[in-house]
Amino acid sequence: MELIMKNMFQSLGKSRTANRLAKKYGLRFGAARFVAGETIQQSIAAVRGLNQDGRVATLDHLGEFVFSEDEALESAAMCIQTLDAIAESGVKSNLSLKMTSLGLDISRELCVTSMKRILDRARLHNNFVRIDMEDYAHCQISLDIYRELRKDYDNVGIVIQAYLFRTMQDIDDLASLGANLRLVKGAYKESPQVAFPDKSAVDENYKKIIEKHLTNGHYTAIASHDEAIIKHTKQFVSEHGISNDQFEFQMLYGICDELQKQLVREGYRVRIYVPYGVDWFGYFMRRLAERPANVWFVLKNMFK
Ligand code: FDA
Repeated sequence: MELIMKNMFQSLGKSRTANRLAKKYGLRFGAARFVAGETIQQSIAAVRGLNQDGRVATLDHLGEFVFSEDEALESAAMCIQTLDAIAESGVKSNLSLKMTSLGLDISRELCVTSMKRILDRARLHNNFVRIDMEDYAHCQISLDIYRELRKDYDNVGIVIQAYLFRTMQDIDDLASLGANLRLVKGAYKESPQVAFPDKSAVDENYKKIIEKHLTNGHYTAIASHDEAIIKHTKQFVSEHGISNDQFEFQMLYGICDELQKQLVREGYRVRIYVPYGVDWFGYFMRRLAERPANVWFVLKNMFK
């Protein structure tokens, strides 16, 4: 049953019609628990709230299903506006983005040109941009673009997913770039040809890549709500004398709030991924797919 629901949410998240409908009706069905709002102002207010108890943030202007050059340029403009709003408000946050929202599927050049404009603006504000990793079909091209950008920018990082077979090799290859990486388990539906189908194998690979990137001496964001992974990381850094400045924990807005605060109290850097925008549906569906138990929460909200 859980697998059926997982597949259903993953498919719905990819449906253009469902996304369009959701956009029309505004943040509904409890999505506000996971999405900070539809406007920049709402998202800045959410980040300010997190900053008050010591959590920092990464803001993401949600944008999926970008099919025209105009939509891609609009999305890049929103990233730049977000960086400006962070600087003007003084909140502690960097930026995360998806390269498909910048038109990666339309033209590589369009995407790279926008990436450079965004990174220039981030540099001006002394800020940092994280490239989210999308599905496997975009993995190689995302890493290629990241390599290209790293030649001119040191304020850019990328995400690596533990569920892919190729990941350990990618960690090795990226070491020479001194890459700042966010390590995650992986959120997309992938074929068993390219990804571990078994959760315990993903968890084992996740621990290995965390250890490897930390041991290589590079900045590591451990983005997980899994208490076993967090415990393992704490133990590993303590046994290997790795400073708290070389890593941070990251979690998603609205998930495991108490654990987030607890880690701050223990003296760790904790960054919360704060998504906002009218294009919230695909993101919301991926969160439900991760934890179909959340569906009860959705049902309750439908009848409120
Ligand atoms: P796991 O799924 O094993 O969950 C552990 C526990 O966390 C659960 O038992 C539950 O208590 C809690 N939990 C997890 N998900 C929940 C949810 N949706 N609702 C309620 N509770 C939940 N993926 C990707 O492919 N590309 C990317 O760029 C990113 N970026 C990213 C940034 C940040 C900051 C985070 C935290 C995660 C991502 N991800 C991602 C998503 C990631 O790949 C993964 O799908 C989720 O983090 C869930 O995996 P966990 O490591 O939390 O463990």
